[in-house]
Amino acid sequence: MEKQRKSGHLVLVTVPFQGHITPMLQLATILHSKGFSITIIHTELNSPNPSNHPEITFVSIPDKLTKSQLSDTDVAGLTLILNKNCAAPLQKCIKKLLHSYGHIAAVLYDTLMYCAQTIADNLRLPGITLRTCSATTLLFFPVFSQLDEKDFISGIESPELRVLQLQRFRALLSQNPTEATMETRVAFTNVVRSSSAIIVNSMEFLEQEALSKVKKYFPAPIFTIGPLHKLAPTVCSSLLNEDEKCILWLDKQSPESVIYVSFGSIASMDRQELVETAWGLANSKQPFLWVVRPGLARGSEWDESLPNGFRESVGERGCIVKWAPQKQVLAHVSVGGFWSHGGWNSTIESICEGVPMICKPFFGDQHVNSSYICRVWNIGLELHELERGNIEKTIKRLMVDMEGNEIRKRAMDLKEKAALSLMEGGSSSSSLYDLTNQISSA
Ligand code: UDX
Repeated sequence: MEKQRKSGHLVLVTVPFQGHITPMLQLATILHSKGFSITIIHTELNSPNPSNHPEITFVSIPDKLTKSQLSDTDVAGLTLILNKNCAAPLQKCIKKLLHSYGHIAAVLYDTLMYCAQTIADNLRLPGITLRTCSATTLLFFPVFSQLDEKDFISGIESPELRVLQLQRFRALLSQNPTEATMETRVAFTNVVRSSSAIIVNSMEFLEQEALSKVKKYFPAPIFTIGPLHKLAPTVCSSLLNEDEKCILWLDKQSPESVIYVSFGSIASMDRQELVETAWGLANSKQPFLWVVRPGLARGSEWDESLPNGFRESVGERGCIVKWAPQKQVLAHVSVGGFWSHGGWNSTIESICEGVPMICKPFFGDQHVNSSYICRVWNIGLELHELERGNIEKTIKRLMVDMEGNEIRKRAMDLKEKAALSLMEGGSSSSSLYDLTNQISSA
């Protein structure tokens, strides 16, 4: 256990999903660099590798979850179980840390682990929530819990939100929410309302309108500090082994010729969709790097569902891996496009490298992110149906046609703006400064 450092001791609480562990580890590294000592409390399942982060103390709590539960896309149901199973061990663990350190400056927790706010309140500690998805998704909490669609939508005047509203909000709101979904929405709204600060892994310029609306809904100060991966570039957080061989393959390709394809750590498709994806990539005639994660095709171990003759047909033009060093891939000069599920981390990683996208959202916030990418920022193309002809056409539009050039220019423009927000005096670095001041002065 590291001794308490000059700025104080912080307890960070994470949840067992790749897309959430990564930003929490990045935040931990950043706050450590600002003089805080850090303990990360994590679940036994999907625990981060402590040897990659010698500066951080790791403590695990029992979660009573199984690996197969984690691949379920019913995130709401899983969130309820997680909070139910972890509340008591988490309370015990934080109490013990408080006893050892004598003082804890704040408890920072992933919004999905909302039970941490109640524990912080009980122990009279400031609770700060980290929203690892976009700021816009915070708007859903009050809306969803009240289901006051008319009032919400009529209040939206800005072009940014109007685009989202028309295309996606209605569809999302009208889906029949399960009881678990309703319960988590209420829990999220309540914790975000009672936290002493909200951290969002985003950038002011990306979600300006949404952020100003979020500020009206929630009393706590909002710190938009992102992209965290650029503030903590060396953090290694992959739960699967990154296959470095794909970088050697990328080295042999022409500049901006490769379409990188990855659907994150949770999304899955049926076998026929995998077959269509494979032939769409083959028929596009474009070099591709495809992450076929174990379990990506439901019911398959790994690549046994790829169609006969596919590998022979693409030969050296295609590279398939189980897991890639994604940030390195996106920064590679050979990569000219990213076909993504629209997960928030993938979205901001792509923006930071100026890589235009194709979006095939699968569930939840991925629909909203895809709307932003394709309709608000105009740096990508939407792909709805996983059908080979459709895939081939969309890849060509992005990678070959003039339309793709225009999209690429806009993506490069966002890359520059992202870099500016990280510079001294930029919105993200100022927000980080304000956050550390608030924590230290509490
Ligand atoms: C989940 C949700 O699915 C998503 O909707 C939400 O926005 C965040 O939490 P996930 O699906 O895993 O996340 O997607 P994403 O947010 O994009 O995170 C994936 C992370 O894994 C990224 O940081 C990406 O760089 C990394 N990754 C992905 C790799 O390092 N290698 C890979 O091969 C694929």
